[in-house]
Amino acid sequence: MTKINVTKPYLPPIDEYIAKISKIWDNHILTNYGPLNNEFVEELKKYLQVDNLHYVTNGTIALQLAIDSLKIKSGEIITTPFTFVATISSIVWQNYKPVFVDIEPNTFNIDPNKIEEKITEKTSAILAVHCFGFPCDVLNLELISKKYNIPIIYDAAHCFGINYNNQSLLKYGDISICSLHATKLFHSIEGGICVVNNLEYNDSINAKKKFGLLNNNYEYVGINAKASEFNAAMGLCVLDHFNDIISYRKNISLLYKKLLSDKIYISSVSNNCEYNYIYFPILLENEDQVNNVIFELNKENIYPRRYFYPCINEMLPYIDNSKTSIASDISSRILCLPLDTYITEFEVEKICIIINNVVNKKDKCISLKK
Ligand SMILES: Cc1ncc(COP(=O)(O)O)c(C=O)c1O
Repeated sequence: MTKINVTKPYLPPIDEYIAKISKIWDNHILTNYGPLNNEFVEELKKYLQVDNLHYVTNGTIALQLAIDSLKIKSGEIITTPFTFVATISSIVWQNYKPVFVDIEPNTFNIDPNKIEEKITEKTSAILAVHCFGFPCDVLNLELISKKYNIPIIYDAAHCFGINYNNQSLLKYGDISICSLHATKLFHSIEGGICVVNNLEYNDSINAKKKFGLLNNNYEYVGINAKASEFNAAMGLCVLDHFNDIISYRKNISLLYKKLLSDKIYISSVSNNCEYNYIYFPILLENEDQVNNVIFELNKENIYPRRYFYPCINEMLPYIDNSKTSIASDISSRILCLPLDTYITEFEVEKICIIINNVVNKKDKCISLKK
């Protein structure tokens, strides 16, 4: 039985990639915002319908650039405990203290109703995550941001291709960042983007991504966040197939939904969201059930992942650990099932049978077709 991981990076047809990178052999421009980078940025702006977009080496550096552009250079950043480590390590890397606010049980995102009690004179920003691409309560977050004059950065690492209220989810917040890592549904091998919606932050991010250079002067303390032409070429090739990638993943996700026991909680997005099907998280009854499901799937060489477990505020050695009860509970029961453009319907049926057997102790699926 071939190994099935939680995901398998999409690769475009190799001849398309070779055709794209052959231009590099003509012009000898390998990096430094060459023509493929420029073309990629223009295509991304067109696709996402945004004006200010910076393509950088990865999502983590995009986050660090966003945080580094904040006007208040120290203090606390209010954030979520249910996220990947990069959200929190970026806050600490930039010398801010993360302050954790518990999540909503249905969206897995920061609960706006619990934010105000954590705001102090030290609060410099809110860093919210659209976890698994499920949109945060952006309207209430914006109200809080305006009321207290605190900027919002969205870690939208999972959100490429998601539309919310008829516009890209990346258009919310002062700055939104996205990851284009190989394991994401849209990627440039490594890569990240910063979408700057509040122009106040644009010059600084633009300069800082290239050693601080602005108008031929080193006006800011900068870093090297330049992506190579080979990365941009991959991004351009994957973008050509993006609609097919989404529709394949949508069909697989719908099949999971149809076949999985109705005892399993599956999150869904509201009608005003066009989702990208980046992950397929399921919520099981308890941690024992999660471990049993993993054990039975592993026996068949199938490897789902416990995203995100344990909660980040309970485990990092370099922060004051705390506990947020809803995030802690969700984290102990969540499991992301395999989802990519290579998994077959037959494999999905098999995964569902195994999971349903653990959950129901009987099959919901009728049979395994060949
Ligand atoms: C929520 C979240 N934020 C940030 C990142 C970092 O992105 P990258 O791997 O491109 O640095 C990830 C990566 O998976 C992520 O899941």
